[in-house]
Amino acid sequence: MKIYTAKGAGFCFGVKRAIDIAFKVAEEHHGGVYTLGPIIHNPQVIDELKSMGVNPVNNVSSLRGKKVGSVIVRTHGVTKQVMKNLHDKGYNVVDATCPYVKKAQYYAKLLKDEGYQVVVLGSKEHPEVKGIMSFAGRNAVVVKDAGELPKLKKKVGVVVQTTRHVDSLKELLGAIVGQTRELKVYNTLCSSTTQRLKETRELAKNVDVMVIVGGKNSANTTQLANLCRSLEVPTHHIETASELRKKWFEGARKVAISAGASTPDWLIKDVENKIKTYRRLGN
Ligand code: F3S
Repeated sequence: MKIYTAKGAGFCFGVKRAIDIAFKVAEEHHGGVYTLGPIIHNPQVIDELKSMGVNPVNNVSSLRGKKVGSVIVRTHGVTKQVMKNLHDKGYNVVDATCPYVKKAQYYAKLLKDEGYQVVVLGSKEHPEVKGIMSFAGRNAVVVKDAGELPKLKKKVGVVVQTTRHVDSLKELLGAIVGQTRELKVYNTLCSSTTQRLKETRELAKNVDVMVIVGGKNSANTTQLANLCRSLEVPTHHIETASELRKKWFEGARKVAISAGASTPDWLIKDVENKIKTYRRLGN
């Protein structure tokens, strides 16, 4: 049985940067460090950070009554109101928002200031999209695909949630062109996500079993698993090697492993090593 691991599997630039920031702040402060929401969608990394005194809270009001050393804003970013609230309360804010997400926020504001109605392609409930929307003005709309587009104004500007698929952007733009006079687009897709999806698709097309490693609550990891399933290859989305089952690999000649942007290398390596033991047992 051959085992392939996606070259781009694991931490992306933005997540690596945020984790490095969190560990550095933890070392300097020795407690009283909070993240607004989990810093990444990976329970194993969150547990490691907790052991160093970095704890997630759901919102700013949850910080009330706590001795706060620093508050870390995670890769997804926050709304501008939340950022203001943190500063107004006098907290030491450490901004670990991914620079690519910052760019999407910046372009949303630019489009609004230039008089465009901003259309954000993304998931309404996703924290990144909520943050972008806070810069996009009152006329802004979020759509998850072209089918959700309302009647638009004459000048339309588009930004995209960084982790969407390029095909959904193409489809959206095609639909907008039909109903507006002026269209300005900032392609804020993250190339790391696009590359990861492309590589995973290629692997899935050529193997008998796909294993996707990463948090069950991670949107980009789930997106990878769904992509593989859509190609009708048996796919298993797991968080750790302990979830692997030997029977998944019976009769398989080729297996591939991919992982979301929030999955640490050591978890991927664990999975790879455990699958190798099945190979030794006779596959
Ligand atoms: Fe940033 Fe792209 Fe990662 S937007 S957090 S580098 S997936």
